[in-house]
Amino acid sequence: MWWDNAVIYQVYLRSFQDSDGDGVGDLPGALSRLEHIAGLGADAVWLSPVYPSPNHDFGYDVSDFTDVDPSFGTLADLDALIVRAHELGLRVLLDFVPCHTSTEHRWFREHPEYYVWADEPANNWRAAFGGSAWGEDSVTGRYYLHSFFPEQADLDWHNPELRAAMGDALRFWVQRGIDGFRLDALDRLMKDRELRDDPPASGPPALPTDPADAVLEHRYSRNSPDVSRALQAIRDAVGDDILLVGEVYLPTGELGPYLEVLDIVFSFDALHAGGDAAELAAAIDSGLRTSGTGWVLSNHDFSRLPTRSGADNARAASLLLLSLPGTAFLFQGDELGMADATPSGPPQDRHGRDGFRMPMRWDESPHAGFTTGTPWLDTANEPVPSVAEQERDPQSTLALVRAAIGVRQRLGSEADLIEARDGAIILEGEDSVVAVNFGDGAASAPPGDHVELAANPGDGDDLTVVPAHGGWVARRDR
Ligand code: GLC
Repeated sequence: MWWDNAVIYQVYLRSFQDSDGDGVGDLPGALSRLEHIAGLGADAVWLSPVYPSPNHDFGYDVSDFTDVDPSFGTLADLDALIVRAHELGLRVLLDFVPCHTSTEHRWFREHPEYYVWADEPANNWRAAFGGSAWGEDSVTGRYYLHSFFPEQADLDWHNPELRAAMGDALRFWVQRGIDGFRLDALDRLMKDRELRDDPPASGPPALPTDPADAVLEHRYSRNSPDVSRALQAIRDAVGDDILLVGEVYLPTGELGPYLEVLDIVFSFDALHAGGDAAELAAAIDSGLRTSGTGWVLSNHDFSRLPTRSGADNARAASLLLLSLPGTAFLFQGDELGMADATPSGPPQDRHGRDGFRMPMRWDESPHAGFTTGTPWLDTANEPVPSVAEQERDPQSTLALVRAAIGVRQRLGSEADLIEARDGAIILEGEDSVVAVNFGDGAASAPPGDHVELAANPGDGDDLTVVPAHGGWVARRDR
């Protein structure tokens, strides 16, 4: 399929390109920058939620699944973006949010049966963003389930009418020419029918979790054994040709049931491994054994790669993740080496994610060409060089990322992890060797024959050595 080995570029619309000076990125702005994405060699664009939203969670609290938020433009603007993307050879994915709606969605009053209700908080479940997962509805005095913010009421996927309504919303977008969906928060999609209490945790969580939530083992609040019924309803609505990418916040080893229906699921193990080579190697090993792994450099929810891996290792880590078989996801700004920033203004996201969502830096004009107005987020610390500046520098991160995507197309669709020790990770493909080293000393490597790409200048001069914090991709003569 087209997405095997593809690179999918994540556009966080609010921070990509503003076209009307209101300080918020929008669809016409994104359309005007599609050449940049195509020029990287990416195969597809994933747009963060475009739907009308009161923005308590910046678009992930949807108040209408079949329209566009006025701050982003109109449905016609989205149609135009799809057409232009297709002309450039880019597929378009929407971010679809099946787990919950905004409490301002008309369904919340007109179809309360689409949601999960109780007369009292029904159990000890915790919301991912803190506090009880049960919110009191001031109108009825009853309690509704919310796995995230209280403004995001959880939908009941056991209800066939809800499944049908969501199927209609998905088909609406397929008919407009959308090529796929990134499906939000799927481990929370299906609830335990009996709403049983989660037992106390017997050890640390497998993935980083809010400390108050980590005291429980999420046996009933997440990862329901009947999730495939909901996933199958989504698949049936869109058909087999539409790419379905799952955001499932579970270790790779537990993704099997999701991959029976979905095409790709993100590897959060690899994302959270950061600069720990042993942990990253283990995550890569399980990802390589799981067909459908999506490798993620950064996204809008977690620290960016240079912050997680350490600035020294960022180029090598990017080279490695972009060279792995599977599908790779590049968050806007990854190509510039953007690290977490300190926002200069008041907090926008209540969960503290502003620093990962700073506006793109396009050129040397005021606000780096993102907006002619006042950006909704601005940075208080030294920003990375802009796209225009990096275009002039052959050693820039932008040049490295573009070259890595180019080389990726020549790498095979298989690779084995052959070594992981002392900070070094080495993979062998059909006729290639990928080697990186997060350690402070040089590491030895099984040689390739011709260097194809080096993380830092000089890294590939001797293909039996991987320099400290360096790496290379080499080709082998058959
Ligand atoms: C996903 C999104 C995140 C959002 C949450 C609730 O994890 O990536 O941004 O806050 O779901 O929808």
